[in-house]
Amino acid sequence: MRSIIEPFRIKVVEPIRITTQAEREEQLRKAHYNLFLIPAEYVLIDLLTDSGTGAMSSDQWAGIMRGDESYAGARSFYRFYDRMQEITGFEHILPTHQGRASERLLFELIGGPDKVVPNNAHFDTTRANIEHSGAKALDLLTEEGQTPSCDAPFKGNLNIEALRALISEVGAERIPAVFITVTCNNIGGQPVSMENLRQARAVCDEFGLPLFLDACRFAENAYFIKMREPGYEDKSVAEIVREMFDLADGATISAKKDGLVNIGGVLLLRDKTLFQNASNQLILTEGYVTYGGLAGRDLEAMAQGFAEVLHEDYLQYRIRSTAYVGEKLLDAGVSIVRPPGGHAIYIDAAAFCPHIPTTEFPGQGLAIELYRHVGIRSCEIGSIMFEGNAPMELVRLAIPRRVYTQSHMDYTCEGIIEVFENRDRIRGVKIIEQPPALRHFTAKFDLV
Ligand code: F0G
Repeated sequence: MRSIIEPFRIKVVEPIRITTQAEREEQLRKAHYNLFLIPAEYVLIDLLTDSGTGAMSSDQWAGIMRGDESYAGARSFYRFYDRMQEITGFEHILPTHQGRASERLLFELIGGPDKVVPNNAHFDTTRANIEHSGAKALDLLTEEGQTPSCDAPFKGNLNIEALRALISEVGAERIPAVFITVTCNNIGGQPVSMENLRQARAVCDEFGLPLFLDACRFAENAYFIKMREPGYEDKSVAEIVREMFDLADGATISAKKDGLVNIGGVLLLRDKTLFQNASNQLILTEGYVTYGGLAGRDLEAMAQGFAEVLHEDYLQYRIRSTAYVGEKLLDAGVSIVRPPGGHAIYIDAAAFCPHIPTTEFPGQGLAIELYRHVGIRSCEIGSIMFEGNAPMELVRLAIPRRVYTQSHMDYTCEGIIEVFENRDRIRGVKIIEQPPALRHFTAKFDLV
């Protein structure tokens, strides 16, 4: 088969600076070994996140100029609204400044003490917003979803048996919504099957519960369904996406992922009363309902981004180029979460650093060494990020959309493989200082 190429050419370039190891060591010390605290200027290849870090297209930039900055009823809002309605079929659509704003609006309304919100795996901001409301956030993964070496096609699936058990244990009245995150970020960007969504829908119908999607990476999930789920090979991604949203009563979306924008979010709701209450909350803290804390130009960029993300040549390139990185690492003997996910490759840090106990955070030790050795910034997704709730000790290499070329990724793999060959040099860390919540962003560490 021929190479799958980037389905775009480059019109604007942003230089990146090559640093020395001594400079990086100094930056690490200054940042107390927390990669979030390192200025981006000192990072060569930034794989910290795929969120808001993508490159916009020429049509999106043209939209930025077209943006209508009217306070109420801007033309750009209607473009955004019409696009979201066309893609998702939802009627009640609110723009927000990013995913966690949608989460906060929703959980302020449906959360609260005594409530329990299940999900396949809550992202850290979702969990934090639920817990901030006084409710409890529960992860209901399948066994295979938590086994890095298992090659199952839909490891993001919600554990339906565990959902039933939860309902009979706590009672349906304490569950304000059942969530499913597509794709499931915490366990490797792994997709959820349509069959699993349908099963969750059936359980929700049986007990009168609303089903919500955390749909940040809905297009990547739909592409995996097309590639892997029997019966979907001849459907378009747009049709699959519509079928996914048709099963849901609502969705929180960070447009910084599959919206292909640098900032933006969406809240989708079926229930009219909930929508009215969310609109009032939005006006209180984010902005009027036709801009939700964004500029008109941001809405314009989202309207275009949500259309471009459904182009199948884009998705083929996206999923293939992520898998390319995963396959190179696997060939070199590096353990990763298998199969490669949609937006990122997750290194199994516990297997990479068997000499570092969980209490010394092998993921953080590895992320530090990747930066020190070659200037790659990655992210620990393990016991630091999830405190007591980490299903695995992982280091995520999140791949920004349409930003890095194949040679950037070759360099990344070469650097990781060099670190792997000298892995006994990697040191664990201890926490020196930490905030009460979301500690990974600001905690200070020292090498053990
Ligand atoms: N849900 C999921 C599954 C996410 O991955 C994120 C963000 C959010 C919600 C929150 O969205 O950042 O726009 O407020 N994930 C980023 C990441 C930050 O690096 O995975 P946000």
